[in-house]
Amino acid sequence: MIHPFDMSQDIERVLVSEAEIHTRLVELGQELSRDYAGKKPIFVGVLKGVVPFFAEMARCIQIPCQWDFMSVTSFEGGTQSTGKLTFRKDIDHDIAGRHVVILEDILDSGRTLSYVCDLLRQRGPASLKICTFLDKPAGRTVDMNADYVAFTIPNAFVVGYGLDYDDYYRNLPYVGVLKPSVYED
Ligand code: XMP
Ligand code: MG
Repeated sequence: MIHPFDMSQDIERVLVSEAEIHTRLVELGQELSRDYAGKKPIFVGVLKGVVPFFAEMARCIQIPCQWDFMSVTSFEGGTQSTGKLTFRKDIDHDIAGRHVVILEDILDSGRTLSYVCDLLRQRGPASLKICTFLDKPAGRTVDMNADYVAFTIPNAFVVGYGLDYDDYYRNLPYVGVLKPSVYED
């Protein structure tokens, strides 16, 4: 049982601090606002890990836009992707002819985003781009790149700011490397 006040004891080191996240997302929000000015984009968040990133990005984007969410999962409680994708929830909007930006918590093997992109591309959007909070290039097993990246990280299992281990640690306000002892015993 994880006690909320004990969470930081399970973190080996902080990779991205709360202040760094805030500064970078303001910058990224300005970039997206410039790139999508006049295009009324639709931002599609991939649940659940994207929630804190999505909420802060939404506040940093200063142009008319719409939101939607989908849910796809490839992790079943562990630290390695199972490789098997489960599709749980589709978006509500018709995206034909729309400028779509997918928001994701982390681009790791690339399987999740490649699946989501293929699915959405079939629906005929005017454009389809990817904005990821974290990019872990060392984890890549499929050819997949993001158009917008907040932070590039080394090859470690990270939690916090939406990212979880067994659905815990999502509420940490920063991104940290989880101590291997947490999942090894
Ligand atoms: P793929 O491998 O499909 O991964 O690019 C995307 C999804 O896998 C989860 N993921 C992680 N979750 N720490 C986490 O808490 C990590 O280091 C990590 N790497 C991948 C995440 O849910 C993401 O949407
Ligand atoms: Mg996820």
